[in-house]
Amino acid sequence: MRILVLGSGAREHAIILALRSEENSHEIFAAPGNAGIAADATLVDLDANDPGAVTSFANENAVDLVVIGPEAPLVSGVADALRERGIPVFGPGKAAAQLEGSKTFAKRIMDAAGVPTGGATRAHTRAEVEAALEEFGAPHVVKADGLAAGKGVIVTSDREAALAHADTYLPSGPVLIEEFLAGPEVSLFFLSDGDYVVALSPAQDYKRLRDGDDGPNTGGMGAYSPLPWLADRFGSEEAFVEAVTRDVAQPVIRQLDSEGTPFIGLLYAGLILTDEGIKVIEFNARFGDPETQVVLPRLVEPLSELLLAAASGHLEDQAAPSFSDDVAVTVVIASEGYPESPVTGRPLAGLAAAASVDGVHLAHAATAASADGLIATGGRVLNVVAVGSTFREARERVYLAVDAITLEGGQHRNDIAARVVED
Ligand code: AMP
Ligand code: GLY
Repeated sequence: MRILVLGSGAREHAIILALRSEENSHEIFAAPGNAGIAADATLVDLDANDPGAVTSFANENAVDLVVIGPEAPLVSGVADALRERGIPVFGPGKAAAQLEGSKTFAKRIMDAAGVPTGGATRAHTRAEVEAALEEFGAPHVVKADGLAAGKGVIVTSDREAALAHADTYLPSGPVLIEEFLAGPEVSLFFLSDGDYVVALSPAQDYKRLRDGDDGPNTGGMGAYSPLPWLADRFGSEEAFVEAVTRDVAQPVIRQLDSEGTPFIGLLYAGLILTDEGIKVIEFNARFGDPETQVVLPRLVEPLSELLLAAASGHLEDQAAPSFSDDVAVTVVIASEGYPESPVTGRPLAGLAAAASVDGVHLAHAATAASADGLIATGGRVLNVVAVGSTFREARERVYLAVDAITLEGGQHRNDIAARVVED
């Protein structure tokens, strides 16, 4: 197949590595990609957010499938333009992508579909914010409505901090005040062809910057998959996945379809397992980052076939995805100053030694080649991924590799998957 992957992060690198690992070989293009992706795909210099540019490239290069990694091209209508031209694309159109972009839209769809989620109030004024904080009590959850690149959410017991957060976003529109949901978080991905869904394997993301879930929220500092503790709560991981498919994913996809906005692509369900049951805290309209980096290395079926089947409405005819018994752990290496103000341009070294550790590979997030070698160009720089037969083994491997990498001021967590290490 000739496949074009849009995006430039470790998630896109993970998608490309999964495509590369298939028995069939593909011609893979990445736009814009990064220095790591350059080793695994042909980089294309085009604006991934420009529907016209992407469509022309796909046409001129006889692309069989376009895979959209990040949310920005979805919101700018790249999938709509490709679909109009009959080019198979894995990624929802602008209207369905609001499931991620607009928390208000997502809440309305969940209400209509009867999907369990926390209580939420839309506040337009300072007075409405104060009343809603009072109503739900502490801890307070305040969210900007719309894309805020992970920065739009605050969870705090400090009422003044919650109010200050609301004040930041109120001038540009209403904010959501939510009921705080207590319990472990799970990320579960579904492939959807607009009508039918299949689940991938659950993963857990570490959102806070520092060990022990301390520090600010980030895009994600690490992840592991599968989640052995799900069996304690639900009998088996399969039972959990079936429940979420039945009660969350399938109803949401049906609701979107019935409203004339079919969702073709990846439905990311961000879940909290509360004492009252599984509840949705957010949906994303794309693969999660860094969860994808631990889910895809365990996928047995060829990813290209699954994505093409979803893009062309034939997912039901395809063998459902299955996953190896191996476990995977990823640790993100981030720049000094991330997430507030990452320092960029610093040299990166030790990658070859890291990648030579048994079971380890690297997914590049923000790297570029310079005259002096590889440099870091963003906040989250590199994902070290280790696969092993146990979490103990995968963790040993991943941290051995992390220690081999040098980046001045670099930050990473040391406790990724520590809670699931077998005694
Ligand atoms: P979001 O961008 O909506 O995923 O929120 C980022 C993070 O904030 C989530 O991963 C949770 O850890 C936390 N969070 C968001 N909403 C809630 C909620 N209603 N209750 C508890 N934690 C939440
Ligand atoms: N890992 C969280 C996200 O992709 O939104």
